[in-house]
Amino acid sequence: MLSSVEGRTVGFMSVDALALHDEAAGDAYRPRHLLMCRPEYFAVSYEINPWMNTTIPVDHRRALKQWDRLVRVYEALGHRVEIIDPVPGLPDMVFAANSGLVVGGQVYPARFRFDERRGEEDPYATWFAANGFTSHGEAAFINEGEGDFATVGGPAGCPPGKKVVLGGFGFRTDVASHDEVRARLGVDVVSLRLVDPRYYHLDTALAVLSDDDIAYNPAAFDEGSRAWLRTRFPHAVLIDDADAAAFGCNAFSDGHHVIVSEGATNFASALRDRGYEPVPTDLSEFRKSGGSVKCCTLELRGANPS
Ligand code: ARG
Repeated sequence: MLSSVEGRTVGFMSVDALALHDEAAGDAYRPRHLLMCRPEYFAVSYEINPWMNTTIPVDHRRALKQWDRLVRVYEALGHRVEIIDPVPGLPDMVFAANSGLVVGGQVYPARFRFDERRGEEDPYATWFAANGFTSHGEAAFINEGEGDFATVGGPAGCPPGKKVVLGGFGFRTDVASHDEVRARLGVDVVSLRLVDPRYYHLDTALAVLSDDDIAYNPAAFDEGSRAWLRTRFPHAVLIDDADAAAFGCNAFSDGHHVIVSEGATNFASALRDRGYEPVPTDLSEFRKSGGSVKCCTLELRGANPS
């Protein structure tokens, strides 16, 4: 169903057609401000999650092509993409989502679980400071940024613009960081426990579709977290095992278009049924490192409510 002629085709539409398609996106769509890092030095040179296998080589040219195309898709959809310079020796720096959590122009910076990634903290902190995103200094607790923090709107009756952060923990992020996020960013944080090592970051188990709508793989959470998710998001899209294993949960939504790993076909049709526009995207090289669309993407939420 999906052809990819020199990277110019996205699902059934060319990247240019997507730009025109914006007109039809409706009220749910909001253009976003994103940070990404080109995978110049991307490789699988250590193993810190069950997807990584140093004996399976990364096709570097293909990884660059897949990533370049993801940038073109975002831009064609009206999003503004900032690019941070990659640093040699930091093969996972491409996973910009892990660099911090940005809400209201303030950043809560990452503090990585594994030494292999700690070198990413400084270059990202430098970028944030140089680009006007303020922080209250280094994080006291281990956290892997938007990898484990997902931002949604407040429950019914909340003031408009109120943000609630869903915080994952269990594998990477220390649950104590959730209080630090609450204190520093002035948001509510709901802690959700991850239980399947394949879905070690929240963004491998749950995707935010709009302020009030999410999709998730229930099997990735403990029973208490599942119960909370069911109550707060009774109409959520449930992602099945096959689509979760194809990294379907690691999707990025602008409220209308959902850029999603191309293997997650049931999820894509569920999205279409609800009026979203899935944009199937091939990021297979990054799956070798345990990542996909969302991992490559950090949302920069500005001082003005966005
Ligand atoms: N190899 C990276 C790691 O294990 C992948 C990170 C994926 N990022 C994400 N936001 N889930 O840390």
